Amino acid sequence: MISGAALAALKAALGPGGWLDVPADVEPYTVDFRRLYHGRTTLVARPDSVEKVAAVVRICHAERLGIVPHGGNTSYCGGATPDESGTEVVLSLARMNRVRSVDPVGYSMVLEAGCTLHAAQAAASAVGRLFPLSLGSEASCQVGGNLSTNAGGTAVLRYGMMRDLVLGLEVVLPDGRVLDQLRSLRKDNTGYDVKQLFLGAEGTLGVITAACLKLFPAPDDYLTALVAVGGMAEAVELLGRTRSAFGDSIEAFEYLPRAALELARTHLAGVIAPFDAPHPGCVLIELAAPRTLPELGARFEEYLGAEVEAGRALDAVLAASGQQRDALWFLREHIPEAQVREGASIKHDVSLPIARLAEFVGTAERRLAELAPGARVVGYGHVGDGNLHFNLSPAPGTLRGSPAEASFLGLAPVVNRAMHDLVAELGGSFSAEHGIGRLKIAELERYEDPVALSLMRSIKDALDPQGIMNPGKVLRR
Ligand code: MLT
Ligand code: ZN
Repeated sequence: MISGAALAALKAALGPGGWLDVPADVEPYTVDFRRLYHGRTTLVARPDSVEKVAAVVRICHAERLGIVPHGGNTSYCGGATPDESGTEVVLSLARMNRVRSVDPVGYSMVLEAGCTLHAAQAAASAVGRLFPLSLGSEASCQVGGNLSTNAGGTAVLRYGMMRDLVLGLEVVLPDGRVLDQLRSLRKDNTGYDVKQLFLGAEGTLGVITAACLKLFPAPDDYLTALVAVGGMAEAVELLGRTRSAFGDSIEAFEYLPRAALELARTHLAGVIAPFDAPHPGCVLIELAAPRTLPELGARFEEYLGAEVEAGRALDAVLAASGQQRDALWFLREHIPEAQVREGASIKHDVSLPIARLAEFVGTAERRLAELAPGARVVGYGHVGDGNLHFNLSPAPGTLRGSPAEASFLGLAPVVNRAMHDLVAELGGSFSAEHGIGRLKIAELERYEDPVALSLMRSIKDALDPQGIMNPGKVLRR
């Protein structure tokens, strides 16, 4: 338990409205998004300034209390959920949600960690700029979580991951000191780039409280198409040709296999069948269309027509309005929800060298036919950057809570191992964008280079010798 004296000190530091301690209020902070973990806590701290975050951390440091930073709670790996001991303090950043400054000339902005990703995009767009990170959960995920998990999403092909979008950070260290590096410099070769340590560290090295983020010119318009293809090999070849034809105009290149489209049609109201024929797969391609290139639309249309004519693509539709564009993105972004509605799933968030994606899919499907007969592979995602959400749904008609569902889920350890071993053989990663959290620690230990793993342990020991920052996440306690 957290001692009465520590609780009193924390509450005094946080001030009125700065904490939650009623069980019903605290409960949502103790269960992760996928409901894999059910933890406990006596206190959810809700500081509204970096000084208060630092005060909370200093008290926890003195009392050796674990601290679990908590953003929008949309992570898939249990990284923001306290353990079952009830001795960890949850630190919600939700009240630190100010946009501190926006600099349209320097193409940067400073935001606090509790801003939602949507608020970050809106702050950029209000001054005619683009903040390009784009995720299905953007209405509720928070920038602090995006930074701490090095989030990816659909625009990585063009703009990189969250790590690539950061110019400066403000971080409360595990002893309560504040690292103030909210610089907006593009060039700054002054020794080790220490801010990088906290990006993707999932709150195990400190609490990110604010960031200076890069902005980009906002595209005037978009050209969005859905292209039917014969499968992953054809999708990857199309990617190569489209990049050579349109270069950096490509903002997204997302693959949706037939199984994903079928789930969307079954479970999502208003999803239209884009093509009459049930093609093996589709690619959602989006190009940025600046006013200075008025001919781009005609060129793209001609290109898609030639692909279909030559039989390299099976069909193609180009969105003719903003509404049609939204409909295509709705379809893509709601695939995870459609899969949840279908029932249980066994998930893999893998990345591969792009040239080996088709080999991965072919080999994986053959292995799964033996390991999980009848299961449906729903392997969709960010083919443009090599990241596939290679998920499995049980055989059609498997009822929620049925013995058949339980035996499907019972296959998860064997299936995960087989898929991740294959990914490792092909030079890929078992965690492309969803992180490690509590869920994938054993995988990290199995697949990470031992030298890299020992460096991670040294860094953790150096920054957090008491092990109070998000204990038991990323690295074993
Ligand atoms: C996505 O790209 O849709 C997500 O990262 C994967 C998911 O929600 O399962
Ligand atoms: Zn994704």
